[in-house]
Amino acid sequence: MYNEIDLDKINLDLAPPMEEPARQYYFIAKCRRYVRELEKKLERRLCFFVQTFGCQMNARDSEKLTGILKMIGYEQADSEEADFVIYNTCTVRENANNKVWGRLGYLNTYKKHHPYMKIALCGCMMQEVEVIEKLKKSYRFVDLVFGTHNIYKFAELVASVLEQSDMIVDIWKDTDQIIEDLPIERKYSFKSGVNIMFGCDNFCSYCIVPYVRGRERSRKPEDIIYEIEKLAADGVVEIMLLGQNVNSYGKHLKDSITFAKLLLEIEKIQGIERIRFMTSHPKDLSDELIEVMSKSKKICHHLHLPLQSGSSHILKEMNRHYNKEQYLQLVEKIRKAIPDIALTTDIIVGFPGETEEDFLDTLEVVRKVGYESAFTFIYSKRTGTPAAIKEEQVPEEIVKNRFNRLLKEVQEIAAKKASAYTGKIEPVLIEEINAQDENLVTGRLSNNFVVHLPGTKHMIGKIVDVKLKECKGFYFYGEVVE
Ligand code: 5AD
Ligand code: SF4
Repeated sequence: MYNEIDLDKINLDLAPPMEEPARQYYFIAKCRRYVRELEKKLERRLCFFVQTFGCQMNARDSEKLTGILKMIGYEQADSEEADFVIYNTCTVRENANNKVWGRLGYLNTYKKHHPYMKIALCGCMMQEVEVIEKLKKSYRFVDLVFGTHNIYKFAELVASVLEQSDMIVDIWKDTDQIIEDLPIERKYSFKSGVNIMFGCDNFCSYCIVPYVRGRERSRKPEDIIYEIEKLAADGVVEIMLLGQNVNSYGKHLKDSITFAKLLLEIEKIQGIERIRFMTSHPKDLSDELIEVMSKSKKICHHLHLPLQSGSSHILKEMNRHYNKEQYLQLVEKIRKAIPDIALTTDIIVGFPGETEEDFLDTLEVVRKVGYESAFTFIYSKRTGTPAAIKEEQVPEEIVKNRFNRLLKEVQEIAAKKASAYTGKIEPVLIEEINAQDENLVTGRLSNNFVVHLPGTKHMIGKIVDVKLKECKGFYFYGEVVE
């Protein structure tokens, strides 16, 4: 394990080892030497800043970047005015890209007055050919660009950046490698994401993820279990299993295993009290999983089940492999087996060719399912996806109108769902001091509802029984029940 590795014992006069992760520890030690030398010269500590865009997968990747930068010896800064700034980017919708382009302008100005500053970019957006071309042409002040497949090589890339001043661009098209045992610095002490698989093979016609994250690869169950055992020993009580489509976990492993069986193994780990996962594709959600969830004491009663559209015609165009009726039947089955389950979803409005009738189908499903919460998105055209070349793009005004109607519906239903919990006593994992009021702490129910209650920082990471006194739409005010 990485926290047992002594960097001082690595002989930097020798050539770097070829095997991983030993090779990366060699480069961490090398970077550490460079950083110490520079700190001596500048007579101050060097610091880093990691900015994450996008999903939980990226958040977890950023913890890996942070772990490596800390081991190298950089201190963590809380703003971009730092010596090493890295943006871990997202490209799922166009506005994610725009945010990065906007902030790069600011970084350039800052760097002009800070000659030792290094700027790095990684993540999904970097897997796009046009992005790389634009960076090479107009953003020469960026020092390092790498993608989603070679993030494990981060230390090696940082070493190159510290050795020379040219822009380094290292993008891989795909990989079948999964490197275990690199340093990770968790954001929270009591909860953690755990990757169980990488990539996606579904090719929904609007989605760029399969192109930028590559083919589906599952981690071996024993590596996952080992990681979670270590997390539990370190005080983690809640884990979130991460994958683009967790329901197809294990399909490509030599000893194939289902996601439900993996959950059964994880459930046995002492110290872990809550298990969450995301994301589930409705087409692969098995009866076995529903059964395991219904019997489990640790798997949270929350399922994120992206609908995307309620129209069977649009679902076909989206390449989702289920129709409206199948989705509704699945929901019925889940609710029957686990009556108190909270269902959440993702919905896209304005997919090419979406008619008013299609949209009304979506509203109908939303009403029938009664989601506890839903993420609603305006369709964003992603170059390279099949949907991008469809001619029947929906006019902006119509999309906005539908989006607002959907949002209103979703919010009303969610508020109604939440208010039904008022007065109940539920176990709540306390996560943080409330951002607005320091006399309050904020926590989550098993079903993912948020609750604010009087408390202190000593409660963080503990599960306490809370009476939900007042519902404020999608969150509650409560108090601890002794
Ligand atoms: N436009 C809008 N939303 C999208 N999503 C994925 N691709 C697009 C796109 N091109 C949404 C889907 C997915 C969520 C993570 O992002 O709803 O479930
Ligand atoms: Fe994108 Fe579909 Fe894969 Fe989800 S399942 S990442 S929406 S292609």
